[in-house]
Amino acid sequence: MLEGKKIIVGVTGGISAYKTCYVVRGLKKLGADVKVVMTRSATEFVTPLTFSTLSGNEVIVDMFPKTTSEGTNIGTRHIELALWADLMLIAPATANTIAKIAHGIGDNFLTSLVLAIRCPVIIAPAMDVDMYLNEITQRNIKKLKEYGFLIIEPEEGELASGLVGVGRMAEPEKIIEFVCDFLLGFKFDLKGKKILVTAGPTYEPIDPVRFIGNWSTGKMGFAAAKASSQRGADVILISGPTSLETPKNVKRIDVITSDEMFNEVVRFYDEVDVVIMASAVADYSPVQKFERKLKKEDIKGDFVELKLKKTKDILKYLGEHKKGQILVGFALETENAIENAKQKLEQKNLDFIVLNTLGEGSGFGYDTNIVTIISKNGEIFELPKMSKYEVANKILDIVSAKLKNGKK
Ligand code: CTP
Repeated sequence: MLEGKKIIVGVTGGISAYKTCYVVRGLKKLGADVKVVMTRSATEFVTPLTFSTLSGNEVIVDMFPKTTSEGTNIGTRHIELALWADLMLIAPATANTIAKIAHGIGDNFLTSLVLAIRCPVIIAPAMDVDMYLNEITQRNIKKLKEYGFLIIEPEEGELASGLVGVGRMAEPEKIIEFVCDFLLGFKFDLKGKKILVTAGPTYEPIDPVRFIGNWSTGKMGFAAAKASSQRGADVILISGPTSLETPKNVKRIDVITSDEMFNEVVRFYDEVDVVIMASAVADYSPVQKFERKLKKEDIKGDFVELKLKKTKDILKYLGEHKKGQILVGFALETENAIENAKQKLEQKNLDFIVLNTLGEGSGFGYDTNIVTIISKNGEIFELPKMSKYEVANKILDIVSAKLKNGKK
């Protein structure tokens, strides 16, 4: 089942490291190529020889091996391994390693590798109940989720300390199942596909220092770009002004106005399979852009009149010039939401529309969203509150299923 898949298993210092032996064995049995990386503390629980025997590969513990007889490329081993892998699993992940990853610390081979890694990383925390429930650990885990790490939640039960509570590493079968689901139904499904994502607001200039804008931060679009790229797609991200980091392996083009966004989207439209329009494009733009800053003296009286004109509706244009692409639009409605969204879907000739809710934990600036996805065929997927990254993956699940049905 996992033939040809390259998996790094990172082991950190916890008693459940013994369970990871079964995980490595199970992954090998399914045909995966497994390489194990351990922290020094992990070797206190299980020896590298055990993992080396089970994986059939050398086990790396130290950044700087005692002997350099293996050659001179040792200093970049963490980079080479990072490029090699399709997936990294860290099991067990201690509170200490979780904290380090959440803060970008690379003070041993395993954590340095995580910093260099391009593939998705699955983390299976394991620790005593109080360490797990500690607010700092909880915040670190939350941070990891926001960064896009996948977490296999620990289970409740009797712990090594004798205490009873949550913190026990998930059972090996469950971890293996999680890895399989991820590798088979998720990660590789967009390989060979080209996806264009738009994100953020557009700014429509009034004069050299003022503009009309909106509260969009770009988080939803950036999450969609990140998830698409992780799942193997070639991603072009056309972004309005935001302060977000470009996701790994994503080609980013920055624009400011709706006109610039229109031009860039149209430039790439013919070569892509999917367009996800998550940007909040301004609907109106000032008719006249003043060349110099408007001074108060220029305005007579207390009121100023600004004449606005409709911008080009990018999605509508794409819908009218479709050549088999899958089009995903977004809608933000405050009343008759489903009906209005359905209407928008039809008018713009979309395949899917993602209906956003505005409120606590959803909409502009939040890391979470509550959305309903409606398809052209009338299917309605109502989703609970989840991170924008998870929403992005739900959208991609639906897009991917449509791509598999042979619609380009
Ligand atoms: N959109 C676009 N070009 C525009 C305006 C919006 O491509 N000039 C896209 C957005 O990126 C989004 C979708 O259209 O995916 C819906 O945008 P929205 O502003 O909610 O809808 P409108 O069609 O502009 O209608 P209204 O504002 O009346 O709800």
